[in-house]
Amino acid sequence: MVGRLVSAAPLRSVALPSVGSSRVRWVGVGIAVLLALLLPVRLAPAQDAASGEAIYRAWCLECHGAEGRGDGPAAERMLPRPRDFVGARYQIRTTASGELPTDDDLMRVMRDGLPGTAMPGWPNLGDQEKRDVLAFVKSLSPFFERETPEVLQRSADPGGGADRAGAGREAYGTLECARCHGEHGRGDGRSAPTLEDWRGFPVRAADLSEPWLFNGGMGADAIHTRFLTGMDGTPMPSNQDALEAGVVTEEDLWNLAHYVAGLGPAKAPELEEVVRVERREQLPGGPADAAWDDLPSFYFPLVGQIVQAPRQFAPTVDGVWVKGVHDGAELALRIEWNDPSNSPDPGWQEWQDKIAAALYSDGAPIPAEPLPDLLGVQFPMTPPDGRARPYFLMGDRRKPVYLWLWHSRRGAVEGRATGLGTTEVVDSGAGLTASAEWEAGRWRVVFRRPLADDDDGVLSFSEGDPIPIAFFAWDGSSGETGTRGSISAWYFVGLQPPTSNAVFVAPLVAFLVTGGLGMFAVRRAQKSYRG
Ligand code: HEC
Ligand code: HEC
Repeated sequence: MVGRLVSAAPLRSVALPSVGSSRVRWVGVGIAVLLALLLPVRLAPAQDAASGEAIYRAWCLECHGAEGRGDGPAAERMLPRPRDFVGARYQIRTTASGELPTDDDLMRVMRDGLPGTAMPGWPNLGDQEKRDVLAFVKSLSPFFERETPEVLQRSADPGGGADRAGAGREAYGTLECARCHGEHGRGDGRSAPTLEDWRGFPVRAADLSEPWLFNGGMGADAIHTRFLTGMDGTPMPSNQDALEAGVVTEEDLWNLAHYVAGLGPAKAPELEEVVRVERREQLPGGPADAAWDDLPSFYFPLVGQIVQAPRQFAPTVDGVWVKGVHDGAELALRIEWNDPSNSPDPGWQEWQDKIAAALYSDGAPIPAEPLPDLLGVQFPMTPPDGRARPYFLMGDRRKPVYLWLWHSRRGAVEGRATGLGTTEVVDSGAGLTASAEWEAGRWRVVFRRPLADDDDGVLSFSEGDPIPIAFFAWDGSSGETGTRGSISAWYFVGLQPPTSNAVFVAPLVAFLVTGGLGMFAVRRAQKSYRG
């Protein structure tokens, strides 16, 4: 049999030293007994469910509910919904499928949160406070009293990283991961639009190319743990049975873990403030042109628009990758983002209806027909004055925004807005064009526009001066339309001049200082919203 399980070191091995006289041995026993008596009191104070309850009421109730059923006042704006502590189906465990998590598992979730969901980490709570609140959480379910969770034995990572990817790709096929996660792992498998959690809420197959948003952490070891434990309460299965039945081997699962780890970057993308637009002799052609490959790529996170109703708390698009190039006469920007559906798609109608039922109870019903995907790229209407940037939600009366609006079936038009929901189409005659391609869960849209615009009122791009840029994305199949979508903060595009870099860098530095404040503004606006 390939790959025997390596058993965890048994705890029994706290034996007395076998050397020395019997007197020494008895002194040893005496100390051990004393320690045993003192330990629970002095070194590891018991978890205190009573003080945990106070912490729970202060920090957890809003989402997890007064009785811990995952139905707090804020819960209905979230997908996935907060955990139901009474039902006690836990996702991030080192224990077998169907079992409870260990205290260490729960402490880990308290420390790191569940990335990609509304569940935050709790750096404000000390270790003892975390233990206390967990003691209270556990007391909400009858199961913790009855069962003592045991860590599932796993073999150690044999290493090998990328060398295992080829074989791992095969296991990805054998185990039908693509059925849910899609061929390239972007959550676009054919079953994806039908997936539900145990309460019947729609649940996305994780986007395996964005591992920094995995609930249980990135890296092959964490991924391997999820393969064996599954994620209870969701369709993500455990492969423990397949392993025991010999359908897959230990080797296969490690190959697979390394393959999956390689589907995305090894660490979360770093946030930069400026899209550096290189100058080239020739602009690339369509979205898939190989000429894009060696241009630098910039990542910008997007968050749900929750400032102005109707809001979107659980948006599909969580970030865009941007590349830019110009030739002195024309600018080309390629915006890339993951979206498991090429909307409008009737195949996702059921999903759209379920999302509407689960999330959009705050008025403004969404149309019951398949909606398109949209992207808005925002700039100021005229070149910025000093550090001024338009209001982050599509500008205001004083500082309107100039928009590139792309529609998944109609292509691109230019627009103008003086605030969210005020978008109007304008034709500046600037000659904006777009070409788009959706492939296996990913949109790539290339916008092209001449740098100069003869119309005085509309932005001209010039080399050297960084120009504010922001993004707004809508996934039609999740009912995103109007003010429901994802937004970014303001960043910048900086066109590289043909000569020295100095002219280019100096204004950038000035703008960088203000750039970081953009995301802060979005976050603050989100935090201050308590509606
Ligand atoms: C802003 C909302 C929010 C708050 C506040 C919040 N949680 Fe959560 N929590 C969630 C959501 C949402 C999930 C489920 C995410 C998922 O299913 O992927 C969750 C899941 C959990 C889990 C389950 C982890 C697992 O492995 O399944 C635990 C434990 C937990 N929360 C503890 C707490 C505690 C303790 C507090 C208070 C200190 C707290 N949460 C506060 C939203 C919240
Ligand atoms: C029946 C559908 C389905 C199948 C088959 C499936 N998954 Fe998943 N998987 C999911 C869903 C749904 C989630 C998201 C669960 C959540 O976060 O609530 C998920 C989550 C994940 C995650 C993220 C873990 C984390 O920490 O957030 C990884 C990695 C993963 N799956 C890999 C795989 C691999 C590899 C396979 C094949 C062995 C596979 N899945 C098979 C539905 C599936």
